[in-house]
Amino acid sequence: MSVPILKKESLIPGTTSKMVLYAPEIARHAKPGHFIILRVNEHGERIPLTIADANAETGEITIVYLVLGKTTALLEALKEGDSILDVCGPLGKATKIEKKGCVVCVGGGTGIAAMHHIAKGHHEAGNKVVAVIGARNKDLLLFEKELGLFADELLISTDDGSRGHKGFVTDLLKEKLDTDKSIFEVVAVGPVPMMAAVSNLTRPYGVHTTVSLNPIMVDGIGMCGACRVTVGGKTCFACVDGPEFDGHEVDFAELKLRLSAFREQERKGMEAYRSAHNG
Ligand code: NAD
Ligand code: FES
Repeated sequence: MSVPILKKESLIPGTTSKMVLYAPEIARHAKPGHFIILRVNEHGERIPLTIADANAETGEITIVYLVLGKTTALLEALKEGDSILDVCGPLGKATKIEKKGCVVCVGGGTGIAAMHHIAKGHHEAGNKVVAVIGARNKDLLLFEKELGLFADELLISTDDGSRGHKGFVTDLLKEKLDTDKSIFEVVAVGPVPMMAAVSNLTRPYGVHTTVSLNPIMVDGIGMCGACRVTVGGKTCFACVDGPEFDGHEVDFAELKLRLSAFREQERKGMEAYRSAHNG
């Protein structure tokens, strides 16, 4: 289904952008935790992107992407008014949201955008939401304003100390776990080392921890096996069994290895795109 781009905004110049797409069928069914798979052109690869926000009334969905390889560079070349060739979704299982008390939602880097939709879902269900966001520096922090609109508490860290706490999100999470015994769940979305560190941190506290995994995906409907992950010793497919799993059960080392499997091809694809683009 070809989908028009209603709005495009650069969040971090040259690296991260936000697009609002007109996709009423997807917006009507999209729940926190869901993702889409898009294809920019007929011969293009299919890439998964978590839905950062959705509005069933206006038919809009929001996506946020990091310009990392050829496909995201092609996406970045599109403008407001252009269309994306195929957008398939909503895919995956929605976040399990129940009114239970206090949930801490941790987002790292671009993962903050995906975490935003989950945090909003918890807020709308009546849970107290503590949002913890972190980035390398203040210019890379996303969705601070949007989270500030509903989060009961918003804690910020930067690796270089240019905004908020100097250090990682896990420092802030540890302080929160030490002082607040009402936390029933921690949700983490971001780089794999961050989700692994959050899960290791919460384990001794016995706090249920949900992570949103981002393995390589192809079909997104459980047929190809590309998104295979091991959870609790069992093989799961992130596109249909996830993308959210119990962080205490995920084999993060395997996920990291599988994510790097095509790094060389990705680098070559990006190089070829850059030289064709600049030449
Ligand atoms: P990054 O490497 O700059 O890290 C962002 C923050 O995460 C850091 O500032 C720090 O607070 C925390 N962090 C990183 N490593 C940590 C560690 N070892 N221990 C504790 N905290 C740590 O992030 P980035 O370069 O913006 O990358 C974002 C990542 O998020 C990408 O890898 C992307 O694939 C992933 N992502 C995942 C989803 C999803 O749905 N799972 C969605 C969007 C992005
Ligand atoms: Fe093919 Fe999940 S992407 S099985």
